[in-house]
Amino acid sequence: MALTILGIESSCDDTAAAILRGTGGDVAILSNVVSSQTDLHAAFGGVVPEIAARAHAETLDLVVEEAVTTAGIALHDVDAIAVTAGPGLIGGVLSGVMAAKGLALGLGKPLVGVNHLAGHALTPQLTDGLAFPYLLLLVSGGHCQFLRVEGPESFTRLGGTIDDAPGEAFDKVARLLGLPQPGGPSVEKAALEGDAKRFKLPRPLLDRPGCDLSFSGLKTAVLRLRDGLVAENGGLTEQDRADICAGFQATVAHVLAEKSRRALAMGEVTAFAVAGGVAANQTLRAALEAVTDLPFVAPPLALCTDNAAMIAYAGLLAFEGGRVDGMDLSARPRWPLDTDAAPMIGSGKKGAKA
Ligand code: KG4
Ligand code: ZN
Repeated sequence: MALTILGIESSCDDTAAAILRGTGGDVAILSNVVSSQTDLHAAFGGVVPEIAARAHAETLDLVVEEAVTTAGIALHDVDAIAVTAGPGLIGGVLSGVMAAKGLALGLGKPLVGVNHLAGHALTPQLTDGLAFPYLLLLVSGGHCQFLRVEGPESFTRLGGTIDDAPGEAFDKVARLLGLPQPGGPSVEKAALEGDAKRFKLPRPLLDRPGCDLSFSGLKTAVLRLRDGLVAENGGLTEQDRADICAGFQATVAHVLAEKSRRALAMGEVTAFAVAGGVAANQTLRAALEAVTDLPFVAPPLALCTDNAAMIAYAGLLAFEGGRVDGMDLSARPRWPLDTDAAPMIGSGKKGAKA
């Protein structure tokens, strides 16, 4: 039976609501509304949790209303309310969970708490109908992990970053070079004019078996490179900037491609998918696509970055599987998808989500 699900997302700096209709494997996105807080945090060089939480609380009812109106339905037409219950910035997650509880209680509808990472991980199934199990590389500003997606609520973490996420590294490199935020698109643009071979950068953890990753040493190497050039020449030329960006981007793509090869060798899968904001990078996409003969899926960008359609979809699958949460649903700052996997050393230090 087709279900209509309202999804709510507020775990970082996007306030989002979406309406989905269908059954697992065959759904239509009726609306997908995202209100970004980028401008609110721009002056601080990163997301300020307290500002984020307040902005979510102020905006949630507006995005829900817009999602319902755009979908051409009434609020009481929804069959269930799915909400991100973690991992994420706790004030934001709480805002979303409280809003969802209020709606569920007021409308008399079931509530389903969703793991934000499950939303990302299930997106390639939403967009391309991938069969389980498939390999997912999640690369964003807050996440970096390889997941074998085995079912709607079954995931095995094969590896991930031991420090920063790649998006954080792109943002830091942009900051070091005086390029605008968010750093990923600025670095990619500058790299178009650059020579990736001019500077030699470290390729972290390639010498270690498995598919764990590290980006913090690479960031430091770029800092040293910049300082060296400034000390030598009194500043950076446009060409220096372009060459650093090209070298950094090629290194990230090379390391992620090599680790993807290893993750693919860790068990049979039907496809290789990538998700998260960094998946927008063309050099990275090309490098990843070349790794395997299996189908390669990179969902459209609006569904790769944080959104509520992915939360509604993960909620729909959980609800179809018989899971419903009560009013005791809690907001969780940390919530690993694979509870059997050992926690990553240092992950979450900078507010990363898992
Ligand atoms: O998934 P996302 O929108 O938010 C979360 O972190 O959850 O990812 C944002 C990150 C930022 O760090 C941004 O710099 C990076 O994705 N990004 C890119 C590109 N576009 C966005 N990184 C590399 N190349 C891009 N074209
Ligand atoms: Zn995310």
